[in-house]
Amino acid sequence: MYTLGIETSCDETSCAILKDYKVLSNVTISSLKEHRKYGGVVPEIATRAHLKSIDKVLLGALATAGISLGKIELVAATYKPGLIGSLVVGVNFAKALSYSLKKPFIGVNHLHAHIFAPFLNNEEKLKFPLLGLVVSGGHSEIYYVKDFDKIKLIGQTQDDACGEVFDKIAKAYSLGYPGGPAIDKLFDARYKDYFKFKCGRNRLNLSFSGIKTALIYKKMEFEKNNLLDKNTKIKLLSSFQGASIEAIVSAILEAQAQYKLKVVACGGGVMANSYLRKRLKESENQGIRFLIPPIGYTADNAAIVAGLGFYLYNKKGKTSGLMLDAQAN
Ligand code: KG4
Ligand code: ZN
Repeated sequence: MYTLGIETSCDETSCAILKDYKVLSNVTISSLKEHRKYGGVVPEIATRAHLKSIDKVLLGALATAGISLGKIELVAATYKPGLIGSLVVGVNFAKALSYSLKKPFIGVNHLHAHIFAPFLNNEEKLKFPLLGLVVSGGHSEIYYVKDFDKIKLIGQTQDDACGEVFDKIAKAYSLGYPGGPAIDKLFDARYKDYFKFKCGRNRLNLSFSGIKTALIYKKMEFEKNNLLDKNTKIKLLSSFQGASIEAIVSAILEAQAQYKLKVVACGGGVMANSYLRKRLKESENQGIRFLIPPIGYTADNAAIVAGLGFYLYNKKGKTSGLMLDAQAN
């Protein structure tokens, strides 16, 4: 079955075509560059960029997959959570296509789609229950996944999301946007505990705002004394990356112990982080497995939306009516 997936929750306009779980195309245009000078995503700019790109992205996805629009049998789109103006573009585009093609439409929760990433291309076998770990620019959450239509939130950040803090710290250190890849590039494992930063953690819940403030104050302190050279920056940022990633790893290990579940499906933009990927792999033993998607499926993309949409339609008989609206939260 051919599924068209559409993702427009933030600054990526993305369309993908899947044949069952096989990704035939996954085409994305990002408005990232247009947000750079503001140090973060500007919702109005993102909305306008989606309007400008969505036709192009769809045509690109069809061309890469080598099929015509008439072959599409299911239209899946992210309907929550995200920036409302951005979501409205993708949801309305999907509903109009579904109506004109006379094919079913299904709205997909973007966060649940992130943890579907490891199952694309049948890379991993779906076996429930499992745990889900989403670490992205807007969310840091742990789920108990009884099935993909029965997902329970069991832990989350109490303030900023992990990726958001990477972005804010990078902005304070003049590393540009997005900050995650920039900090990851500077990361030197020798300095991961150099400064004794700590993230807040209470069982399965996390807090990143304290470490963000600490990094900003430390920078000001070093600057005041004219001591903020490149090496000090590397030590500070490596200590930040070390502490924030260790907090995530310990929270998910605690969730595994508490729920006695060995398999964790992982997703979200921060899953591209080299140290997080390494630490999760190192933590595997006694059947404990972290399903880490290829880097291309970690950040926002439509293949994960199409994959989950197809699963919910095919295995659970779910569809959404054309009355379904975009929801910010
Ligand atoms: O999942 P995503 O594309 O968008 C949201 O749904 O939020 O995640 C984007 C986030 C940004 O905050 C970005 O800085 C972060 O993922 N990110 C990283 C890395 N690559 C992207 N964070 C840490 N290390 C990375 N290598
Ligand atoms: Zn995302």
